[in-house]
Amino acid sequence: MREASGAGFASGLGAWRQLPGPLTGALAAAIRTAVLDGRIPVGTRLPSERSLAVTLRVSRGTVVTALATLRDSGWLHTRHGSGSAIQLPPDVTDRTAPWSTSHGGVLDLTRAVPAAPHTAYLKASRRAVQRSATLLVDAAEPDAGLPQLRELLADRYTRQGLPTRPEQILVTAGARAALTLLVDHLADRSRPILVESPTYHGALGILRRRHARLAAVPVTSAGWDAAHLSRTVQAARPKLAYLTPDFNNPTGALMSPRLRTTVADLADRHDMTVVVDETLCDLDLRVPADPITHLAGAGVITIGSTSKLVWGGLRVGWIRADASRIRELQLNPLQARLSPPPLEQLIACELLSDPHELLRDRRDRLRAQRDHLATLLAGAGYWSFTVPPGGLCLWLRLHNVGATALATRAAELGLKLSAGPAFSADRTLTPYLRIPFTGTPEDLTQAVGVLTQAMGR
Ligand SMILES: Cc1ncc(COP(=O)(O)O)c(C=O)c1O
Repeated sequence: MREASGAGFASGLGAWRQLPGPLTGALAAAIRTAVLDGRIPVGTRLPSERSLAVTLRVSRGTVVTALATLRDSGWLHTRHGSGSAIQLPPDVTDRTAPWSTSHGGVLDLTRAVPAAPHTAYLKASRRAVQRSATLLVDAAEPDAGLPQLRELLADRYTRQGLPTRPEQILVTAGARAALTLLVDHLADRSRPILVESPTYHGALGILRRRHARLAAVPVTSAGWDAAHLSRTVQAARPKLAYLTPDFNNPTGALMSPRLRTTVADLADRHDMTVVVDETLCDLDLRVPADPITHLAGAGVITIGSTSKLVWGGLRVGWIRADASRIRELQLNPLQARLSPPPLEQLIACELLSDPHELLRDRRDRLRAQRDHLATLLAGAGYWSFTVPPGGLCLWLRLHNVGATALATRAAELGLKLSAGPAFSADRTLTPYLRIPFTGTPEDLTQAVGVLTQAMGR
């Protein structure tokens, strides 16, 4: 359990004094909101009442009353001798709504998947088949990957400013396969895994299957809280961290170069391995796009994938690590099962050897769809959001309704969406809704129509 410092706890509450009503009610409401927003993780042990009163500059009586309200409504768990810790009351621990997939005409925005680039993909497949004769000779066993693909990926990193040799690349069947292999190899049950909140729900699924203890650090559309991140690393001593600094799914936030350096230093100093998921790093929608700044260092392992640049059906991803680590991973019995067939790797080679047109087309479409969705949603008054610099989704903060309730109503009207708790390590983030802008403008227009109708129900 994490013990919050008085200052850390107070900074999580934001400008709570500006809330209407008496101070006790405002303080309790601010704590509830900070928990649901993921700024104060579930399980956080509160500082003593006296130290909270000093940091928040209120009387001890105000703190005592506010905490009593929270305790009575199930937000605080108090154990004699070990203080009070944040918990979620049962009515808040609702998960994402169970979706009905049985009827046709349903608009499914639970997945953030860009459309396949048909022409380029078919052309690349044909060329790969023509070149596949050599595979019959060379690729007898699942190995660390086809030499030409490992070379191409190493070259790409090197050109982007991160010198890399082919021996530092292990090809996998996508980024999730890469994470599965790394977690199997590196996780240590006695120490937690650091994740962002919110983070990619597919990664949370992989980590939960390992019954890993998770320590969450908040990320918002405005970015990461560097001080919170450092404090959590020092207090929770995670063995492994899973981070998405490039257009975090779902917020779209992009980590600053400075914080990347800080994270690499933290990894070094605290014996922590950071797995950096760069699956979305090509989806920079700014004009012009910035060059990629890789988060790199001795304690950092990078994973990537073709699933967003090319297509989720092409199951090709990779791990970039020290050559010695790659050799160890090759010995893991899971590795053969998590590697893609050679022909898929050849198709990836074809597409990645000259990705510029694909990339331009992908970015242009996503940018237009993002702006279209943002225009449709603007000014409705039901929600607020920040237009992200990249990625695949808008992350809406709903003002007067829980996201799961709204998603359930929308599902009844034929629109499937994912609510905030799906992206949270502790099932909080209940006021948030993720809307991917991967659909066509027509689909997005229809989706916002349904959502607005659901709001009025
Ligand atoms: C951050 C992140 N990593 C990985 C993936 C999936 O990668 P793959 O399909 O290669 O397993 C996604 C898909 O949305 C994602 O958002």
